[in-house]
Amino acid sequence: MFLSAISDQAIPVHLVDTRASVSVIGLGYVGAVSTGCLAGLGHRVVGVDIDPGRVDSIATGRAPLHEAGLDDLLQDGVAGGLITATTDTVAAVLATDVTFVSVGTPTAPDGGCDTRYITAAAREIGMALAMKNDYHVVVMRCSIPPGTTLGLMVPELEAASGKKAGRDFGVCFNPEFLREGVAVEDFHAPAKTVIGASDGRAAATLARILEPVDPAIIHTSIEVAEMVKYVDNVWHATKVAFANEIGRLCKPLEVDSHEVMDIFVQDTKLNISPYYLKPGFAYGGSCLPKEVRAVTHIAGQLGVRLPLIESLAVSNRTQVEAAVEMVRATGARRVAVLGLAFKPGTDDLRESPALDVIAALRAEGIEVTAHDSAITPDGPVARGSRIAALGATMVADAESAIDRAEAVIVTHANEIYRKLVAPLMQPVVDVVRLFRPGTPQPPTLCGIGW
Ligand SMILES: NC(=O)c1ccc[n+]([C@@H]2O[C@H](COP(=O)([O-])OP(=O)(O)OC[C@H]3O[C@@H](n4cnc5c(N)ncnc54)[C@H](O)[C@@H]3O)[C@@H](O)[C@H]2O)c1
Repeated sequence: MFLSAISDQAIPVHLVDTRASVSVIGLGYVGAVSTGCLAGLGHRVVGVDIDPGRVDSIATGRAPLHEAGLDDLLQDGVAGGLITATTDTVAAVLATDVTFVSVGTPTAPDGGCDTRYITAAAREIGMALAMKNDYHVVVMRCSIPPGTTLGLMVPELEAASGKKAGRDFGVCFNPEFLREGVAVEDFHAPAKTVIGASDGRAAATLARILEPVDPAIIHTSIEVAEMVKYVDNVWHATKVAFANEIGRLCKPLEVDSHEVMDIFVQDTKLNISPYYLKPGFAYGGSCLPKEVRAVTHIAGQLGVRLPLIESLAVSNRTQVEAAVEMVRATGARRVAVLGLAFKPGTDDLRESPALDVIAALRAEGIEVTAHDSAITPDGPVARGSRIAALGATMVADAESAIDRAEAVIVTHANEIYRKLVAPLMQPVVDVVRLFRPGTPQPPTLCGIGW
């Protein structure tokens, strides 16, 4: 049922051929805001929901939820003939060029993502695609586990339409980063715009719609775009939990937590920066493990619970165990460890995770030969470290380290190691992302988080 007729007379003539018309499936926070804001940019928008109350609200220019500025946008859109609304998905898709999917994805009983609304919506969109001759783009905007667009939505669309995604119609994943309360403002000044697409034509069609609010669109694969959305929200949750733990720690110490964090965020080199934010090996060295222990100890004495900070050491140990397991899985009895210090460019072996890997391998009777560009095997650093006690052999040149090795683990990224392992045929465990994607690398290379 269309509550407001879609008619070409209603569309300002100068817009007819320039802007894609958009159907928005699901008129909750995301869909209602998209409907109002896209109409504000001059697009003809057809809103769809299974809830007739929401459809009626949009069709009469009233926001179905409280969001600053949305009522005005919807009123203007309806008055200008740009916004209509219906419960009929098939009719809405047939009447438009692009379909945004923003149905709910609540938590399933098992804690996962309930995808039943996506399945239902995809089936109906697919039925419309079956009847459509023109190229159409389906844009998934829900927050969903990586793989859902291609593994669930696309098969539903293809089965219902009898057509092929990427050829007969386009599919994009375009995560929504709006914050409720300032959603209209965020639509016009997004934190970022990410498009994952099945093909170039789909990406270009969606980019043309979004470029007026963000010319610097980030293009990527559908799976990466899906993951970005989850990672963003987990990061935001981590920040909130972290800041709250700092508050709980500061209060009994009578330290002003807000002043601490005001200073903390001014460090844009190490704190609020890309630094420390790439998956790789465990942290170590003379500071991080010690200070995490000290903070955990202070909290314990004060009776303050800091589950996030307390779990850092557990998480770090898990990363070391993951590296050991990867080496173990090769079945090698002779292993080369390339890189010993807790990070490259230093000879500091204090709490180096590479030594924990060696300890675990030696405990299983595995023969270990080790190399580090900054450490001389018979020098004082090596002599004073755990390496000798662990029964590992340290060598002065990396070639002799891998000479008899059945497997190699690389813990430092440098040119020497890159050249050395590139032609190897034996398993290489990489915990530092030694090779950029697309560059030649050993066929047996296995990355710890990639
Ligand atoms: N709310 C936010 O701030 C926000 C931000 C970013 C991303 N997201 C994601 O966007 C998606 C939508 O979120 P929301 O908060 O707008 O959800 P919501 O629950 O407010 O709205 C979802 C709407 O979809 C409708 N719907 C369900 N099945 C339908 C179908 N088959 N056809 C048509 N309509 C259908 C529901 O009736 C409801 O009105 C979710 O995946 C959410 O995780 C939400």
